[in-house]
Amino acid sequence: MSINVIVGGQWGDEGKGKIVDLLSKNVNIVARYQGGSNAGHTVYHNNKKIILHQIPTGILRENNVCILGKGMVVDPDGIIEEIECLNNNNIDFNNRIIIDYYAHIVTPLHKLIDKINEEKSGGKIGTTCKGIGPTYQDKYQRIGIRAIDLLDIKLLKKKIEERTKIAIDRSEICEDDLLNINLNDYYSSCIKIKDFINDSFPVLFNKDKSNILIEGAQGTLLDIDHGTFPYVTSSNCSSGGISTGLGIPGNKLDSVIGIFKAYVTRVGGGPFPTELFDENGKQLQSIGKELGATTGRVRRCGWFDIVAAKYSACINGLTGIALTKLDILDSFDTIYVCTHYEYKGSKITEMSKVLNYLDEVTPVYKQFKGWNCSVEGSRVFEDLPEEAKVYINFLSSEIGVPIEIISIGPKRHQILNLQ
Ligand code: IMP
Repeated sequence: MSINVIVGGQWGDEGKGKIVDLLSKNVNIVARYQGGSNAGHTVYHNNKKIILHQIPTGILRENNVCILGKGMVVDPDGIIEEIECLNNNNIDFNNRIIIDYYAHIVTPLHKLIDKINEEKSGGKIGTTCKGIGPTYQDKYQRIGIRAIDLLDIKLLKKKIEERTKIAIDRSEICEDDLLNINLNDYYSSCIKIKDFINDSFPVLFNKDKSNILIEGAQGTLLDIDHGTFPYVTSSNCSSGGISTGLGIPGNKLDSVIGIFKAYVTRVGGGPFPTELFDENGKQLQSIGKELGATTGRVRRCGWFDIVAAKYSACINGLTGIALTKLDILDSFDTIYVCTHYEYKGSKITEMSKVLNYLDEVTPVYKQFKGWNCSVEGSRVFEDLPEEAKVYINFLSSEIGVPIEIISIGPKRHQILNLQ
């Protein structure tokens, strides 16, 4: 039995889907522990691009059972859309999806409240409007609806009616807003996903059978406790969320791999010390096709940030790193890496000191000579141009965690395994 973990090391969108796809080859269970349809994992299957939001990417490997853990907030309408996508791509999902009884459920009301809150704040956080925050809010207020409630549709309807009344009483929505909600379609989605709802415990703790891969969504800097609050999501995306979201304690984890892009991106609001507003930023955006998989928004782009990466390595207990999208840097003459920040005249190497003042820090960079050629043809680390090796070795030694995997393109085979 082995339990290995993949987490986002930055602000999400690091390319986790592809690495999960790679590492799910020899496992029988792939599980998610937090978040919901705010995630967007892009993978290529038979040369076709597939985007999954809630169902773990492991569904593409036919031997895997996929678990949506109790720490997630699950949107039944979204699950139906993903099932349709799997059907259209001839991917068999029968008896391969378990939504834990106690995962909380997103309703159209939660999405509406998310959207209204976002509009009221002038788009300050820039949420995905998928109802994530309001659903977690209901969970912690102990008025949430859970997957097990979907097994009794009469009870579910009663709960949704009660919650709607609360929303109107609290002025979260007004009566007219209800015209924008189609509950009939929603209930039919709930009925269609009933067979997936089950107890994940006996599957996760089947000692004879389980090689488990745990798939994080979003990224460490969006973690509700460790991220750039309030510009964060509403769950624990870092590895700490696993013990609550799946019930698997930290001392059972065999490895924790952090996924980092070879540069940094962020969608939505919030501080981003190494963000670029110049031609380099535009180039990263266009070569890297940096558009959000869930919302289609343009991602903000910047240079690699060692201060943030070291923090992330520490919070997650990283044992290894997968560096993605190295090929996007192919055409840059000079590549910059932020080694530390300056804040009010002091040198800052620890992120926690300035987490609340990140928009006031000045990044200090070390320059690297670009390799100015394509890395696409490389099959092993030694094939990479010298300049790329220098860049990668610097990141690894500064973060203090070995880089074990390097992705050099979107396709399944475009990967270098360094182990
Ligand atoms: P929410 O998770 O929809 O509440 O959004 C909160 C913040 O997290 C916003 O800035 C989103 O853009 C960001 N966010 C949520 N999910 C993802 C993701 O999967 N990748 C990148 N950013 C995300």
